[in-house]
Amino acid sequence: MNEEQRLANNQIIPVKPIENKDYSRFFQATPSLKEAKKRGKETIQYHADFKIDERFAQMGNNRKFYIRTYGCQMNEHDTEVMAGIFEQLGYEATDDVSQANVILMNTCAIRENAENRVFGELGHFKALKRHNPDVLIGVCGCMSQEEAVVNKILKTYNQVDLVFGTHNIHRLPELLHEAYMSKAMVIDVWSKEGDIIENLPKTRKGQTKAWVNIMYGCDKFCTYCIVPYTRGKERSRLPKDIITEVRELAAAGYKEITLLGQNVNAYGKDLPGSTIGLGELMNELRKIDLPRIRFTTSHPRDFDDYLIEVLAKKGNLVEHIHLPVQSGSNGMLKIMARKYTRESYLALVKKIRQAIPDVALTTDLIVGFPNETEAQFEETLSLYREVGFEMAFTYIYSPREGTPAAAMQDNIPMDVKKIRLQKLNALVGEYCEAAMKQFENQIVEVLVEGESKRNKNVLAGYTRKNKLVNFEAPREVIGQLVSVRITEAKQYSLTGEFLEIVAGLEVNNQ
Ligand code: SAH
Ligand code: SF4
Ligand code: F3S
Repeated sequence: MNEEQRLANNQIIPVKPIENKDYSRFFQATPSLKEAKKRGKETIQYHADFKIDERFAQMGNNRKFYIRTYGCQMNEHDTEVMAGIFEQLGYEATDDVSQANVILMNTCAIRENAENRVFGELGHFKALKRHNPDVLIGVCGCMSQEEAVVNKILKTYNQVDLVFGTHNIHRLPELLHEAYMSKAMVIDVWSKEGDIIENLPKTRKGQTKAWVNIMYGCDKFCTYCIVPYTRGKERSRLPKDIITEVRELAAAGYKEITLLGQNVNAYGKDLPGSTIGLGELMNELRKIDLPRIRFTTSHPRDFDDYLIEVLAKKGNLVEHIHLPVQSGSNGMLKIMARKYTRESYLALVKKIRQAIPDVALTTDLIVGFPNETEAQFEETLSLYREVGFEMAFTYIYSPREGTPAAAMQDNIPMDVKKIRLQKLNALVGEYCEAAMKQFENQIVEVLVEGESKRNKNVLAGYTRKNKLVNFEAPREVIGQLVSVRITEAKQYSLTGEFLEIVAGLEVNNQ
């Protein structure tokens, strides 16, 4: 998208000019959820022309950046891209916010409490800015895509210098430049998604596990969810670009790749003339010499038979599927617009289990959605038992301004919601413990990530089914795949004894 199209696509309010300067380049493009809801027919363009403008080559000299990330893996990965851009500009990373010359808050809008945490933190930065007026404070990520948030920042948080959204992180160099030059808050949020830029730099957080975007955006419009507004329409990367990236990561020694998308099962549907879906993509990726490939997140509606067939070939495709169900009640699923029923979800689970008998299934659940009766909540509990999920992320429904559910009356009292959440969590704990118990005395393969959070002498890593394992071993095994005998199952983790490094993994080329 060029500058002109971008301006045409967004609401532009020129920033008040400051004397004696040509501020024609400075503007505010503020978000509009209504605009963000629109889905255009134009095909996405792919670019590989990102490069740092010479004018900005010295920008980061003697400057440090700090990014605080909230929300999902998508945001974590965007942070890696922004870190890559900062480093190309010559900035140095710091973990110490008081040392930073630029602070970015990469925010999440999924629930109100996520937003409140960010506002709380921004409040703290007021004092920091008073001590050090030269520090540049930026807000980006999903919250920036909401007009209510941007208005609140404009009104109350004048310590913020820069606000930009999820669609223009590649403009970070220009935006930083504008923020340095402008006395007014620079706001550049596109309500319409941009094209895909393939050659953005990335500074990955680890050397063992890596995230790879396979698509951006979401077109599912579940009635409670803000993501289709904050992330735009579904846009798939080209298979060749994904395959190249995964090959490069494998060659660089990464051991586990997580393919990312809000609804990865819709992969490829938007590629013109393409017959490649997630199944076909996974079938190519599984031939790459790399121990583990995961993906997140799956939508039950588009989970097709071919994907199941491919996953059943295993090899580097792990036997763990995160399959958010949200509710066990057909009435709730209907008003959530999930577009499947309890029965069709159970039928899908059955099909997956027939093909992959040892699969570990995990899920996401929402309690206290508008009008949820006690009986409907009980249906969520009964579905949980029927599937026997090994783990779940559970949430109290949080109304998101601009979504259809926010217009429904939120008529379940908070104390009722809390009791439902507690009951559900007790069940989740019970099933998790039972799933863990099965590993006692078993030998499992663990990808060692580092020291355990609680004890420096203990190492920690995850199994193919994403179970946390703690064990003692020499530090040299960090970053390696090892075999561990499980000696004790706890409720949410396993303890074991180190056996050996796993050598020569079999890669399935069939
Ligand atoms: N794309 C993913 C979900 C991303 S959001 C999917 O469809 O599976 C992660 C989880 O947050 C969702 O699965 C849902 O359980 C929860 N969630 C989303 N919006 C919410 C809201 N308004 N209130 C409470 N939980 C919500
Ligand atoms: Fe949100 Fe639904 Fe899209 Fe998931 S599939 S991101 S819950 S709208
Ligand atoms: Fe949050 Fe945006 Fe992810 S709303 S969950 S950071 S896509």
